[in-house]
Amino acid sequence: MRLDDILYSQGFGTRRVCAGLIQQGLVSVAGQGDLEPATDLDTDALTFTVQGRSWPYQASAYLMLHKPAGTECSQKPSTYPSIYTLLPAPLRQRPQKGAVQGVQAVGRLDQDTTGLLLLTDDGKFIHRMSSPRHHVPKVYEVTTRHPLDDAQVSRLLAGVVLDDDPRPVKAAACEAVDAHHLRLTLTEGKYHQVKRMLAAVGNRVEGLHRSQIGRLVLPADLAPGQWCWLTPDDLAKLTP
Ligand code: URA
Repeated sequence: MRLDDILYSQGFGTRRVCAGLIQQGLVSVAGQGDLEPATDLDTDALTFTVQGRSWPYQASAYLMLHKPAGTECSQKPSTYPSIYTLLPAPLRQRPQKGAVQGVQAVGRLDQDTTGLLLLTDDGKFIHRMSSPRHHVPKVYEVTTRHPLDDAQVSRLLAGVVLDDDPRPVKAAACEAVDAHHLRLTLTEGKYHQVKRMLAAVGNRVEGLHRSQIGRLVLPADLAPGQWCWLTPDDLAKLTP
């Protein structure tokens, strides 16, 4: 693939901007900076450097973000900064056939929810992960206002009725970690589901953190606001 096409596909700007970066010597591959826009490269396991920043070629981008509190999972946030401001420009600019450019969040977390959020530019992956048939379990660490009791845990496991659907929703797993902390696993993703389920059993969510999706656990060393690429092993943990 031509080097200017490679940079364009990875979100480094228009083809003209990408050609300019190469001609100005701002792009290097394996330590060599004297390159032409038409230089042909094998994209397999390719890593290149743009203005000193190393970047792996990815046909599709898959990443995880440790979402901090006080951010919105929207391109057009209403009150809080968008999570997309936490990502470098190339991830936001990757060209897409559809109307929206760049990577998109796989589902949404509330502005005050923290934790594991997946992002990708692979529309089929978003569809698969969001499909109710896929049932990928998501683990939430919940801090409650009122002390938890066995009856609340039993009701969450048995199923509670929310206001928009007569069919009860139930936790796939639920355990009280201590008096005010609950670990709750859900396989669906209704709007404000955890908060509404806790309200339905007479409690209230004071803090909400998503720690796991499928078998993929948010790494302890990924600080709030930081992101990293998903490895093939990480992706395998997202399949049922
Ligand atoms: N359930 C909620 O209530 N909020 C979230 O952000 C995620 C799940």
